[in-house]
Amino acid sequence: MEILHTVAELREWSRLERNDGGNTIGIVPTMGALHAGHASLIRAACKSVGFVAVSIFVNPTQFGPNEDFARYPRTFEADCALAKAEGADVVFAPSVEELYPAGAATFVEVAGLSDRLDGHSRPGHFRGVATVVAKLFIASEADRAFFGQKDAAQVAVLRRMVADLRLATEIVVCPIVREPDGLALSSRNIYLSSAERAQALALSRAIRHIEALAAGGERRSSPLIQAARAILTAQPDIRLDYIELVDWNTLEPVEGTAPNAAGGTLFAVAAWVGATRLIDNTILQ
Ligand code: PAJ
Repeated sequence: MEILHTVAELREWSRLERNDGGNTIGIVPTMGALHAGHASLIRAACKSVGFVAVSIFVNPTQFGPNEDFARYPRTFEADCALAKAEGADVVFAPSVEELYPAGAATFVEVAGLSDRLDGHSRPGHFRGVATVVAKLFIASEADRAFFGQKDAAQVAVLRRMVADLRLATEIVVCPIVREPDGLALSSRNIYLSSAERAQALALSRAIRHIEALAAGGERRSSPLIQAARAILTAQPDIRLDYIELVDWNTLEPVEGTAPNAAGGTLFAVAAWVGATRLIDNTILQ
């Protein structure tokens, strides 16, 4: 497995693999601190395309001024070992200056959608995400890019970006990978104390409860939201950010689940457990 640091190298590899190797190209964008959730994306990519690039880049533009950019976990050696073991062909690990050259003034703004859910509590976050993902798509010329449903609002923003810019990269969404006790894997879980980690289970418990209520026929938004709220607020160290039932395509709130909604109905929660912000969700078809 090769480790590449420049856009020119990534583009050259991608073109060689496509033209001489006859391969389709996949990219798995990550910020590193790779875990089994990321591994599942790499495996899905390896099954789907002939050449897989995993990008590892802690993207400064998607962090707010008081967020965890400086202390975000950086585990490059272990990440490369995991990417290699899962079958990645290259790791793309650019510097900040490589992706944001001095004086960089070009950003991708997906209006409207970027102010919803996580974008509401993290202003500018999705502008940073859309910008870096557009750069990665352009650099890799990937046919397919693999993302987790874990970040469901991110998926909605990126799908809109691909449609609006008529990009040639298809977005593939992979299921949420969880710990055996239900906690959704996240690079930020390492911030949790053991007492906080126990309380954090309320997120996946709420999601499972909502799935059971929906399976039992509850379609109305407000009872579903109230049920999740009751589970989350029972924990002393949990502070809610949002609980929402939205159309997964538009991220606009809906009154209830619509069995035939094209994009599915997204039930999403975000909460701080102590000082750590966690998210979880389910798609109610
Ligand atoms: P990061 O948080 O590293 O996540 C990279 C990818 O892994 C995302 O598509 C995310 O949804 C997926 N992922 C994370 N936890 C997962 C889990 N438990 N199960 C399945 N997939 C999971 O998301 C980002 O980085 C960044 O915003 C990025 C897209 C790389 C742009 O900087």
